[in-house]
Amino acid sequence: MRRAAVSILALPLLASAAPTQKRWQGAEACSYIATQTLSDPRDVVACLKSFPFREDLRQNVLAVAESVASFYTYETSAVNSPSPYQESTVNLESEFNRIRYQHYDTDYDFNVDLYFTVNRLNDGHTLWLPYCYVDAFQNLLPIPIVSLAKKADSKKESIYVIPDADQFFSQYLKGEFNQYYQDKGINISRLAGAEVTSIEGQDPYAYVSQIATNYTGNYLDHGIRENSVYASYRYTGGKWGQRLGDFAGPIVPSYPKYEITVTLIPTDTKKAETVTIPYVSTFLGKNFTDQASYWENNCAALNTTNGVDYKLQIVAANSTNSTNTSSETTEFATLHRGRQAVAALPDLNARREAINLPQPYVPTAYNASGSDDITYYTMLPDTTVGVMMLGSFSPADYYQWQTNLLDGINGLKAQGADHLIIDVTNNGGGYVCEGYLLHRLLAGPSVDPNPSFESVVRANELAKQMMASNIELAKTYDYYQILPNYFPPAWNHIAPNGSAYGPTEDFMDPSSSFSINGIQDSFSQRTADSCTPWNVDVPAEQPFPLSNVIILGNANCASTCSAFTTLMQELHGVKIVNFGAAKGAYSGMAGAEVLEWDALDSEFKTANLKDSPLAGPDLLVNANFRNNWRASYSYRRPDTFNPYNDDVADYSFSYTAETWNNPQALWTFAATEVLGVNIHSNNGNGKGKGQQHKT
Ligand SMILES: *[C@@H]1O[C@H](CO)[C@@H](O)[C@H](O)[C@H]1NC(C)=O
Ligand SMILES: *[C@@H]1O[C@H](CO)[C@@H](O)[C@H](O)[C@H]1NC(C)=O
Ligand SMILES: *[C@@H]1O[C@H](CO)[C@@H](O)[C@H](O)[C@H]1NC(C)=O
Ligand SMILES: *[C@@H]1O[C@H](CO)[C@@H](O)[C@H](O)[C@H]1NC(C)=O
Ligand SMILES: *[C@@H]1O[C@H](CO)[C@@H](O)[C@H](O)[C@H]1NC(C)=O
Ligand SMILES: *[C@@H]1O[C@H](CO)[C@@H](O)[C@H](O)[C@H]1NC(C)=O
Ligand SMILES: *[C@@H]1O[C@H](CO)[C@@H](O)[C@H](O)[C@H]1NC(C)=O
Ligand SMILES: *[C@@H]1O[C@H](CO)[C@@H](O)[C@H](O)[C@H]1NC(C)=O
Ligand SMILES: *[C@@H]1O[C@H](CO)[C@@H](O)[C@H](O)[C@H]1NC(C)=O
Repeated sequence: MRRAAVSILALPLLASAAPTQKRWQGAEACSYIATQTLSDPRDVVACLKSFPFREDLRQNVLAVAESVASFYTYETSAVNSPSPYQESTVNLESEFNRIRYQHYDTDYDFNVDLYFTVNRLNDGHTLWLPYCYVDAFQNLLPIPIVSLAKKADSKKESIYVIPDADQFFSQYLKGEFNQYYQDKGINISRLAGAEVTSIEGQDPYAYVSQIATNYTGNYLDHGIRENSVYASYRYTGGKWGQRLGDFAGPIVPSYPKYEITVTLIPTDTKKAETVTIPYVSTFLGKNFTDQASYWENNCAALNTTNGVDYKLQIVAANSTNSTNTSSETTEFATLHRGRQAVAALPDLNARREAINLPQPYVPTAYNASGSDDITYYTMLPDTTVGVMMLGSFSPADYYQWQTNLLDGINGLKAQGADHLIIDVTNNGGGYVCEGYLLHRLLAGPSVDPNPSFESVVRANELAKQMMASNIELAKTYDYYQILPNYFPPAWNHIAPNGSAYGPTEDFMDPSSSFSINGIQDSFSQRTADSCTPWNVDVPAEQPFPLSNVIILGNANCASTCSAFTTLMQELHGVKIVNFGAAKGAYSGMAGAEVLEWDALDSEFKTANLKDSPLAGPDLLVNANFRNNWRASYSYRRPDTFNPYNDDVADYSFSYTAETWNNPQALWTFAATEVLGVNIHSNNGNGKGKGQQHKT
């Protein structure tokens, strides 16, 4: 049934003024939403809250949480986060104790509390992700926002509903999304480009700042989190896409935020009006028909939720060819194909927000050779500027990407490129060694043997026992085939030595103890990543003089992206160019590394220590407690953990109506303003030289 469209002007508080509408309760709500493509988040939350609180699940989850926290490298740092990151202060131990005794009505309430407690660390590597509640539904608003200035060098910005809101959503769910709002009397086309003058009765920037503080998570730096509130472009899955941003998109998809009241000035009337716009929920989980099947398909533990004993792989391989002894080739193959360390934000957003960039913004420049699912190479038309759009460091094909990288760079050079722009907008990171390969390729062989940071892991009691146990077990099993993280040869000595640790070189013995925030903490000796040999022959020469290379983005550059950009700036003076709200920091979580719960649990099981009281039990629910288990040290301040260093961009610019969602116009702007390249053709908004301001 379609309700008659009513004008927003006529009924400003439309969404909240619906007291007579039937609301489903409990299990009924689950059966009801199972039939809907787009649901009212009230119904979704009613379903999610229909699962009663269970003490056994709380005990199970908290036992896992405590075990994971003992591996979290910043647990003691976070107890009193250093300035300017005090907002990220969380004492996990006392919070877990609070949660252990708090009264909850529902399983949802318990999980959402734990989710927000961990999220407040603002460390996207460390998150409690109960997929029953955080990955099944997303709440959307049709008014993503962006902060724009009239000129890139202006300090004065205003917030707008994204100018492409109408084109953006018209494709979503084959138009059903727009129709949903039209049925509620909200014409998205009309709101596109409207200036937003207040949100929930507050200054819109103050509201954005609160979202960055309360919900966004992921980055220590507040400005980076603000950038994450706004919509922006991205390159993922070989396509140009657009993020909704945290204002309009999911932070915690099932978090009960039902509507929002904004005052805005639409482009047609140019008169301020106040509208209340409801959120809508879309479903991304596994199909269900009722409450029981919702739990079964989305909430119960999967056979991949917990870890496995990696030794079983050796035993299986051994039994199929018992005469085959470990050889040099085996060792090479496993070292080479072995550990693929990951430093990345959780990949939830890619799936949620896979909405194509509307046509007028898609680059028209030729998509050059070497391009793939995460990388897009192009020449800026009629210039000597090559561009590499790098959407992440998580290619679908780990080894092929290394070949593509050489092809891409060589292809640009063959087309006459003598400058390079690397665009890392919304690059959430990925494989650590892919980042180091790019660094090695651009910087040349002087960075060998370890093109990476010095790093440590926590030397807690269980970690030390795992290392010792693996060293012992390696006498029986060919551990080079599995290379668990707590086996020394998975790591290199730090430079200048750079060779892999031997199988008995326990780098936690001795460990190094020091006091952080008055708490005694213990870490391993410093190690480096083992990335070589690469899958490609890396040239001896730098492809471009590094003074002709810039890295630009919106500061939403996490983990491996952060490690890469930080290394390029700290070691080689490559200029970093920021766009958007984050006027200082340009990246977050440099040189850190994530271990998903199943991987940590596999380490327990492989080392025969799953029965230790320090090792968490198998999770009983479909969830993940990911954790930053490794910390690196900055080159600039070799005694400070990397994320607590302020990495400041060399240039900061506002987005303008021309550049905010238009990669080609943005590159052209940067080529002119930062690289000083003269551009004659119409390449976007490459006209006019503004003031450069350095930060
Ligand atoms: C929605 O707004 C657009 C732009 O103002 C207008 O062209 C269109 O007619 C409106 N649609 C409806 C159904 O009112
Ligand atoms: C953020 O949290 C503060 C403190 O709890 C609260 O006062 C404020 O309303 C929250 N803001 C939003 C947008 O939820
Ligand atoms: C660019 O080219 C690569 C390789 O052919 C392809 O995978 C990718 O989808 C292309 N991207 C765009 C936006 O055309
Ligand atoms: C889930 O349901 C949708 C809509 O009914 C259907 O298109 C899709 O194929 C189903 N997926 C699975 C895995 O059953
Ligand atoms: C997990 O279960 C799926 C089917 O439910 C099965 O295909 C897969 O082999 C199982 N994996 C493991 C590791 O047991
Ligand atoms: C047995 O052979 C397989 C492939 O033929 C190889 O991957 C594996 O490493 C071999 N096992 C041992 C113990 O050498
Ligand atoms: C023995 O192991 C090597 C190295 O993994 C492998 O290449 C070879 O195929 C194996 N031989 C047999 C007979 O399986
Ligand atoms: C591998 O196979 C050999 C020969 O069958 C056996 O002696 C040895 O114990 C096996 N090793 C492991 C780790 O399974
Ligand atoms: C690196 O250091 C270790 C331990 O001191 C030593 O055994 C190894 O030979 C060194 N390697 C090189 C290449 O110097």
